Amino acid sequence: MSTERQLAAVSPQPIVHAHRDDAARHVAREIVELIEARPNAVLGVATGSTMTGVYRALVAEASERSLDTSGVTCFSLDEYIGLPPGDPRLFRSVLEGHLIHDLGLRPDQLVTPDPELAAEDPRAAADGYEATLVAAGGIDLQLLGIGRNGHVAFNEPGAAADSLTRTLPLEARTREDAANTFGGLSATPTRAITVGIATIRRARRLRLLAFGAGKSEIVERTLRGPETIDVPATLLRSHGDLEFHLDPEASSAL
Ligand code: GLP
Repeated sequence: MSTERQLAAVSPQPIVHAHRDDAARHVAREIVELIEARPNAVLGVATGSTMTGVYRALVAEASERSLDTSGVTCFSLDEYIGLPPGDPRLFRSVLEGHLIHDLGLRPDQLVTPDPELAAEDPRAAADGYEATLVAAGGIDLQLLGIGRNGHVAFNEPGAAADSLTRTLPLEARTREDAANTFGGLSATPTRAITVGIATIRRARRLRLLAFGAGKSEIVERTLRGPETIDVPATLLRSHGDLEFHLDPEASSAL
């Protein structure tokens, strides 16, 4: 169920679901329908707690409809630099759990940036990843979360609208939000490799999800505030096919 209430001066109009599980199911269904129509669909996949329900719903929906996922390719948005290979906190490891273990994709169907190459030769890792995305024909549907400072993927405030894949330092607030996962701030990575704002904008559909009261302020700034590099998510607003899927708490400041 989503609200019919029109929110003044908000563009695009967000879709507010009664519960975050409804939002996750809605987006998962769209992905399943995309794959049914286009078996070799290219998906842009995201990490973060917001996404776990989407993957759970995707696995359930795919199994219910006996979906053939053998032609799908998934590209991830970003990766921490500095963790040992196979570390469970690598986004690659998290996505392997959801997409390979749970959904049943083959390892070669999940393409992720190489954090070791990114540490040794940042330019080669970034340009190589960008080129792989272009060679795959671009992303059909990109899943996105949002950081409390308005970051998308790891495009921190200040990210240019024409930015492509690159390595960069993580902001204090982003590291604080991740610190629990790493058992404290001092053990939390300081750098990451991320696709750029321009890379994200090339995707044919953008589906951004935000849940919980902790996201209400940034959702309000993203939808109502000026388009600015200080809030990177605002740089996506002029994309022709962007949807915001919110729960009531995330929409509470609108
Ligand atoms: C990380 C990821 C982002 C994600 C954000 C929000 O910083 N790089 O892609 O959107 O976290 O995470 P959560 O969904 O846990 O709030």
